[in-house]
Amino acid sequence: MEFSKAIFQVFDLKTVIYGVILLFIVIDVFSSTSITKAPVTIPSNTISSPPLSLAIILKPSNTSIFSIPNLKNTTSFRKRPICDIFQGRWVVDDGRSRPSYRPGECPFIHFNFDCFKSGRMDLNYTMLRWKPNGCSLRRLTRHKMAKFLRGKRLAFVGDSLSRNEYQSFLCLLTNDAGKKKKVLVVRKTKVFEKFGFESANFPDDNFTIDFIQTPFLVQKFEGKVQLDVMAKVSEDYKNADIIVFNSAHWWRHRITNHGNNFYQIGKHVYKHLTPKMAFKKSLRTWSKWVDANINATRTQVFFRSFSPVHYSGGQWNSGGNCRGENFPITKLKKRGKFELQETLETALRKMSTPVRYLNVTTMSNYRKDAHPSIFRGKTINETIQDCSHWCLPGVPDSWNELLFTMLMDHGQQK
Ligand SMILES: *[C@@H]1O[C@H](CO)[C@@H](O)[C@H](O)[C@H]1NC(C)=O
Ligand SMILES: *[C@@H]1O[C@H](CO)[C@@H](O)[C@H](O)[C@H]1NC(C)=O
Ligand SMILES: *[C@@H]1O[C@H](CO)[C@@H](O)[C@H](O)[C@H]1NC(C)=O
Ligand SMILES: *[C@@H]1O[C@H](CO)[C@@H](O)[C@H](O)[C@H]1NC(C)=O
Ligand SMILES: *[C@@H]1O[C@H](CO)[C@@H](O)[C@H](O)[C@H]1NC(C)=O
Ligand SMILES: *[C@@H]1O[C@H](CO)[C@@H](O)[C@H](O)[C@H]1NC(C)=O
Ligand SMILES: *[C@@H]1O[C@H](CO)[C@@H](O)[C@H](O)[C@H]1NC(C)=O
Repeated sequence: MEFSKAIFQVFDLKTVIYGVILLFIVIDVFSSTSITKAPVTIPSNTISSPPLSLAIILKPSNTSIFSIPNLKNTTSFRKRPICDIFQGRWVVDDGRSRPSYRPGECPFIHFNFDCFKSGRMDLNYTMLRWKPNGCSLRRLTRHKMAKFLRGKRLAFVGDSLSRNEYQSFLCLLTNDAGKKKKVLVVRKTKVFEKFGFESANFPDDNFTIDFIQTPFLVQKFEGKVQLDVMAKVSEDYKNADIIVFNSAHWWRHRITNHGNNFYQIGKHVYKHLTPKMAFKKSLRTWSKWVDANINATRTQVFFRSFSPVHYSGGQWNSGGNCRGENFPITKLKKRGKFELQETLETALRKMSTPVRYLNVTTMSNYRKDAHPSIFRGKTINETIQDCSHWCLPGVPDSWNELLFTMLMDHGQQK
């Protein structure tokens, strides 16, 4: 079968057997005065054998089907007060904009982030909204976002936190359906760090939201991270109209073998590199690539800062936990523990391409209450808690409101 051949060219057998799931999901969100459950139709014939046209998407080198030229600038930019949207506090919403969507009802959320479906019963964490001092975030509505995105492509590029962010974005976009909308999702998930891809196309409004998994941004192959070469998937997103990058967690991950014989530049393999040094070198590669490859007239580039974790009593693999945390932190300790953050900020300052900093670290750091902990899947296992990703609805919804506000206020924020 031609389709399976196409997969096998890209992935080794093991990855295919354990990993590749390709779904073709058509979601119709029906009009209603109240929020209704969006029915998900997964045509059974497309699971094992998707239409051949979809198989094209599997080829990482093929970017042509996603190159959507820019549309005319039709968005009107309303003037609003400028303030530092990252300085503020979490407030209990009056119920008008929180929860951002009904818990357990957004069909785009992976079960790892669907805390409600996984049995988390307290819902206070869904009722908080980020409120900057001195101004308000724009409320992300499907109508306004779709109008802005028409004819465009937005790509979330990074690790599984970017996936968290991407899924939140899709939920926000399908929440207040005024009329019937169709979303076509092409998904290729669970493919470890090699290549992960998901693409949601909104044909009625003619725009596409992508998630591209590339946790180091630079290339990884044969068990090493090649710090001086961008990951090949960069070809796939460089023509997007808006790119939201992130990279942080994996540099500290056990997968880096504690930095021993794991990083290489040219043919030279480093005996040891600290996360900071490795990250710094990779960002040099990334920023040179952005300066050389991104057309800043066309593409708005964002970098989302580090998403804080809240393990207490250990780390993710040594009994660290956050279960039972139902309230945010009220007073943060002085900052300074995010060493990779400063590395990132230094790199961004040196660039010639304007990269907009989605500075979510501090605001998210309050939210020790908003991680999945044990509510991260179908079976509850008390041993390993997730205090790193975020429940949805939850914190990434506010990240996306920050992003939305920055997009709409382009040219007004500093
Ligand atoms: C990408 O896909 C398009 C659409 O099928 C095809 O015409 C084109 O030849 C492909 N390009 C590459 C580089 O594979
Ligand atoms: C779009 O138009 C608005 C209002 O005319 C203008 O302020 C803004 O800079 C334009 N944006 C782009 C990306 O051209
Ligand atoms: C990021 O936001 C925090 C909290 O508002 C602030 O202290 C910090 O200076 C900001 N960083 C940058 C580079 O703007
Ligand atoms: C979608 O947007 C692209 C790029 O602007 C445009 O060429 C195409 O005609 C649009 N399609 C529809 C159905 O409006
Ligand atoms: C960059 O994008 C703009 C707007 O789409 C276009 O006019 C310009 O020709 C592009 N520049 C290059 C070097 O491709
Ligand atoms: C939820 O918040 C309310 C009001 O702040 C509080 O009274 C209640 O105890 C909280 N519930 C949980 C489970 O923490
Ligand atoms: C929970 O996960 C740990 C680590 O993967 C495993 O050793 C243990 O058997 C699991 N417990 C249950 C009840 O599944």
